[in-house]
Amino acid sequence: MTKAVIPAAGLGTRFLPATKAMPKEMLPVVDKPAIQYVVEEAVGAGLTDVLMVTGRNKNALENHFDRVAELEATLEAKGDTAKLERVHESTDLADMHYVRQGDPKGLGHAVLRAHMHVGDEPFAVLLGDDIIDARDVLLTRMLVEQERRDASIVALLEVEPEQIHLYGAAAVEATGDPDVVRVTGMVEKPAREDAPSNYAVIGRYVLKPEVFGVLERTPPGKGGEIQLTDALMAMAEDVEGTGGVFGVVFRGRRYDTGDKLDYIKAVVQLAADREDLGPELRDWLSGYVAGFTH
Ligand code: UTP
Repeated sequence: MTKAVIPAAGLGTRFLPATKAMPKEMLPVVDKPAIQYVVEEAVGAGLTDVLMVTGRNKNALENHFDRVAELEATLEAKGDTAKLERVHESTDLADMHYVRQGDPKGLGHAVLRAHMHVGDEPFAVLLGDDIIDARDVLLTRMLVEQERRDASIVALLEVEPEQIHLYGAAAVEATGDPDVVRVTGMVEKPAREDAPSNYAVIGRYVLKPEVFGVLERTPPGKGGEIQLTDALMAMAEDVEGTGGVFGVVFRGRRYDTGDKLDYIKAVVQLAADREDLGPELRDWLSGYVAGFTH
């Protein structure tokens, strides 16, 4: 498998006004836009062919992964190789492709736009505003399970019961493996009392190409949008021999940069762990929390 699809065409309304003229995936997390972490994760798992599904304001996304001749020439003339390397990091990362979603009719609709590029092979979907800490393994494990089980794979995170209404929740059955469950059903953003489990579906999927046919027949669901969850629900029931759905349980660090509070936590946590910024930030933070510094 070599292809990754990154839907980044959502309106990002939770982050207005920052996202009025810029996609939320371009918000910097320390010193890289969120989307670069996601592309790096795909490449790290061996998926070097990346298709981004973009919406309005797509220019910033495309430009970030393109060359900037003027900037490169200026840094070269100054002999600033360290900064030049940072500029090249995103340019040389992957084989980038772009497709427009048109109207933002939902995540399922965005994935459907990838059909032509992906063709008839399994592929990964990584949501552009969900960051998985590079020190924790998720996508690689999902790729292994997809091949082993010849099924579609979702990523599951156990959340507090009061948080489950923010996610798609999965009904699951145990397999012999503690890290893998069989998904028997899914409910999009359920009330706490209606949730089938505390397993939240997070923004990583490895899908069989049969998902495209299912999506084509999926009517608009919650919010009038074509929901990927609805298609996965049909696939979990394996109605048309689509292979079923399994969940890989993730126990590592994950940041939802589309949510304001989670975004702030991501910036603080990732900066605090960095060698160049961490020591000073930690010192300042402990003083700030204790009320000694402003
Ligand atoms: P969200 O549910 O976070 O929606 O989308 P959103 O519109 O981006 O953000 P808010 O809720 O208004 O703040 C989940 C993922 O699906 C993509 C988004 O870019 C995000 O990665 N998406 C969503 C699309 O690509 N197209 C859509 O029509 C909807």
